[in-house]
Amino acid sequence: MDLHSLPRFPLATLPTPLDELPRLSQTLGARVLMKRDDLTGFALGGNKARKLEFLIADALTQNADIVVTGGGVQSNHIRMTAAAARKAGLGAVGVFFSSPDGEINGNLLLDKILGARLIYAHADKNETERAIEQACDDLRAQGRRPYLIPVGGSTARGCVAYMLAVQELQTQLRAQNIQPDAIVVTTGSCGTHAGILAGARFFGMSTPVHGITVSRPADECRARIARLLDETAQFIEHALPCADADIIVHDAYIGEAYAKITPQARSAIYETAQLEGIFLDPVYTAKTMAGLFDLIQRGTLRRNATIVFWHTGGAPGLFGYPRDVLGK
Ligand SMILES: Cc1ncc(COP(=O)(O)O)c(C=O)c1O
Repeated sequence: MDLHSLPRFPLATLPTPLDELPRLSQTLGARVLMKRDDLTGFALGGNKARKLEFLIADALTQNADIVVTGGGVQSNHIRMTAAAARKAGLGAVGVFFSSPDGEINGNLLLDKILGARLIYAHADKNETERAIEQACDDLRAQGRRPYLIPVGGSTARGCVAYMLAVQELQTQLRAQNIQPDAIVVTTGSCGTHAGILAGARFFGMSTPVHGITVSRPADECRARIARLLDETAQFIEHALPCADADIIVHDAYIGEAYAKITPQARSAIYETAQLEGIFLDPVYTAKTMAGLFDLIQRGTLRRNATIVFWHTGGAPGLFGYPRDVLGK
């Protein structure tokens, strides 16, 4: 399949920059380049803009009139999905597994501005998919035509978006004659990681991809990534062989729980901002940067290596967790 022939609803400003981070590199003792998917542009940016181009196009093909998805209270994915649905003239529903414990701020404030219907499921995080299905059933009973997007937009179509992102990165690396030793990315619902691996297989890039999980244990992530690779291979009708050993996930940086900041993630936010003027978010990318620091320190990633840190966005989350970020 020609991946470029799939229906696509344009959202992201592409290509995103590939920036050298000289001051952070000096501090870390490795050459770090950053793939700036925090700058995808649409609705304050982030990785979901790429996935949603394919998912919203599919919703339109299926003649849906409302998009339903789910996540945590400060979900970047719900904010981006609601914005993309609105741009396409569709309704938007966000199913949250818990309710806000205080102010309406950060991503949640943006969801309100977008006029998304917000449902608080009060469910266990792992039951969110069931709550999303229930919301779709309820909408159907009211005569609506819902399009279900699973948590994080991690489907085969979402993975194709990241396969094409790898092609974009490959073009940038070739133009600058850079051969990275590793790619480091946040692993959440696993679609971005799986898509990058799939893209690396498809476009012949052998760089190891290190995922830093911010929620699930590594084994669970590896199983999800393997399943997403299978589903994507079937969807594009092209084999994507990937040995178990090539699915690399580190789970030492989650801390107490998903969306609970760690001291190392807090430091990573301040260091990255003060060295490079770049904002990380407290839930995803700061833990990933803390992981990168540690992997270099431990020698898992060798000193002087060339590393691509894939920034997946999420800065609105800084305004959702001001106390965590300030350490108060
Ligand atoms: C800022 C940010 N980075 C990374 C991720 C993780 O991406 P994925 O769910 O594809 O693993 C998310 C998911 O919501 C996110 O919002």
